[in-house]
Amino acid sequence: MIPMKSILKATVFALAAAAVFACGPKAPKVIPAIEPDAQVEAKVEQVLKGMTLEEKAGQMVQLSVDIITDPATGDVDPAKMDVIFGQYKVGSILNVLQGHSFDRVKTADFISKIQAKSMEHIGIPCIYGLDMIHGASYLTDGSLFPQEINLAATFNRDYAFQMGRAMAYETRAAQCPWVFSPVMDLGRDARWPRLWESYGEDPYMQAEMARVETIAIQGSDPNHIGLENAAVSIKHFMGYGVPLTGKDRTPAYIAENDLREKYFRPFKECFQAGALTAMVNSASINGVPTHANKKLLTGWVKEELGWDGMLVTDWADIDNLFTRDHVAADKREAVALGINAGIDMIMDPYDPECCNVIIGLVKDGSIPMERIDDAVRRILRLKVRLGLFENPTWEHDYPEYASADFAKQSYEAALESEVLLKNEGVLPLKETARIFVTGPNANSLRTLNGGWSYTWQGDADAFVPQYNTILEAIQKRFPRTTYAPGVVYDNAGGSWQSEDASGIAKAVAAARLADVIVACVGENSYCETPGNMDDLNLSANQKELVQKLAATGKPVILVLNEGRPRIIGDIEPLAKAVVDVMYPSNYGGDALAALLAGDENFSGKLPFTYPKHINALHTYDYKVSEHREVMDGSYNYDAVMDVQWTFGHGLSYTSFAYSDFVLESPADFKAGDDLKVSVKVTNTGDRAGKEAVLVYSSDLVASLIPDVKRLRGFEKVVLEPGETKTVSFVIPANELAFVGGDGKWRLEEGDFRLSCGGLGVMVRCSETKVWETPNI
Ligand code: BGC
Repeated sequence: MIPMKSILKATVFALAAAAVFACGPKAPKVIPAIEPDAQVEAKVEQVLKGMTLEEKAGQMVQLSVDIITDPATGDVDPAKMDVIFGQYKVGSILNVLQGHSFDRVKTADFISKIQAKSMEHIGIPCIYGLDMIHGASYLTDGSLFPQEINLAATFNRDYAFQMGRAMAYETRAAQCPWVFSPVMDLGRDARWPRLWESYGEDPYMQAEMARVETIAIQGSDPNHIGLENAAVSIKHFMGYGVPLTGKDRTPAYIAENDLREKYFRPFKECFQAGALTAMVNSASINGVPTHANKKLLTGWVKEELGWDGMLVTDWADIDNLFTRDHVAADKREAVALGINAGIDMIMDPYDPECCNVIIGLVKDGSIPMERIDDAVRRILRLKVRLGLFENPTWEHDYPEYASADFAKQSYEAALESEVLLKNEGVLPLKETARIFVTGPNANSLRTLNGGWSYTWQGDADAFVPQYNTILEAIQKRFPRTTYAPGVVYDNAGGSWQSEDASGIAKAVAAARLADVIVACVGENSYCETPGNMDDLNLSANQKELVQKLAATGKPVILVLNEGRPRIIGDIEPLAKAVVDVMYPSNYGGDALAALLAGDENFSGKLPFTYPKHINALHTYDYKVSEHREVMDGSYNYDAVMDVQWTFGHGLSYTSFAYSDFVLESPADFKAGDDLKVSVKVTNTGDRAGKEAVLVYSSDLVASLIPDVKRLRGFEKVVLEPGETKTVSFVIPANELAFVGGDGKWRLEEGDFRLSCGGLGVMVRCSETKVWETPNI
């Protein structure tokens, strides 16, 4: 058996190897998720032995911090804590006070007081968890990075690593040992309001980035998490991102083979990389609420992978089993259903009575004591692994907290994440140009950051006004900048979608005096269910603004600042250039100004498919038979759907040529072999640039209709003008397997095409293999 430490070391080595441009996906192997550590296990058993049923039930409940806080002072309330820890013996607290965020010192003080009460009353440390989503999201003096969707657009694993490390380091510096990150829901439905929280639509990209982030957050030894690391809660297990309605927390219907092949993959990779906890999908798959899905929770995760970590519910989702989903008649039935399905900790934010419900269910035999012991073992194991028994609070120096290095990493990530989608010769801009900046997103830090930024729905303007908005950054770089918003988000108007368009005429008049218009449009920040909406089109007001600006005859540069691809099919032709900055965070404005000026070069590529029509929402890996274009009697594998921009699209100020895409391993292969390919990439322009090199496979004939293509590798290379680099990929042949209608992995005899940069090579699987194991 391979010890966990060496697996992680091998992974880190693979990351290092990426830097010399030879890398490939990790060969899928069935391994125990985390190698147990004898000392950790002994401590868990010792604590468990001395616990009463009341104490065990308490460990299984997590409450919101509001319940132990005095709203008048915003500080913890000792009397309330005495009840929660003394009477109910609650084991975990989460969240910040609604609408509040504190700096590191205050947060540390707050959590330390909670920890002291837990030790006083229970003798077991409390575990505090926070939604740190793109860095230390809830620390007002911490470091924020671009959101995950941006990091995906960099096609550069280093940024997932840097963000994860800074997030863990700063969170731990504030005495919090647990982050609800990374998010690995596949963003495969453009309507879904949490698309931007994920690494995009592709399972391989999502798995790669989330695995790297997990290792960065937790460090290399999940049994002993250091004082500069934290435990992850990978989320939301699983299939959360493709609700049929496009609305958050509504039912998904996912074919069983897709569930295994695509949606499970990122989770499996992270479980196997040592992820200590996972949060469950709030909604349902194929009619079964995930919180009640024993097959997935206990079967796929705990039994198949031998995973000994802890499953926590999402917000009040046990209640949702009876209030929303109607698969249980009342709270008692819902709690029994969830715990018996495999839930270990119930996030029941405002109901400490949940503890008594658990006790009652054990006493009347509805939940077996072994299940309770198993759940509590998992919770205690997490606390032991985090070192909380020795150090319920800790003293440690954190000199890198909010450091210039973290800020630099965030800025560089923003630079590599902003995607140039179109440029009809208008960019880069001259320093002397008279630039008219407009649009509701031009002067807003809230929109640069998106949700999970100081507050749940995002409110960066209130907390960190020191950073530059797009307008401020452009003003600093281009002295002849003017501004009028045209349309503004009416933040007091109730909904994040409220807008005031009364300034359009004024903006259009001002635009006439400029040489070029930078129109910053998109979305206000939002998060989760409040981000639901009924029309993926960019708002009518913003379209009108762009139409009227374009009618002035001045060139329009459209800057899209949005969490999901809002449809702009009718106004895109009016723009001379389009940049999608998504949510690049606090340095996103500075990065954009540098890119528009040409001080820096664009290198981001879309990690999702940008739709053009509302009735044509696609992912790049659609079924070949979904496309109507037929050549020579067969479907055209190179055809693309009628979308605005394809997955992987992104321009640069330089140009790249691909050549010599060659197969370096035999063209005939079998399961277990490695396919080796290399390609030459040349910078054919006159300035330096970075290019994300993407390699795909296409299965030409399969017993289930094959996906038209699938991403199998990516590397980012830096090229000086005229320079050529050879980029190599190793693709384990097993990666080309798919899950058949019978739920079994199959690699089928026949032809496959590998492609890269418009070039292709053919390979042939000489022997069909069907696996009997659920994971390969
Ligand atoms: C969200 C989770 C989050 C949790 C705790 C839920 O509403 O779905 O992503 O981690 O709240 O704040």
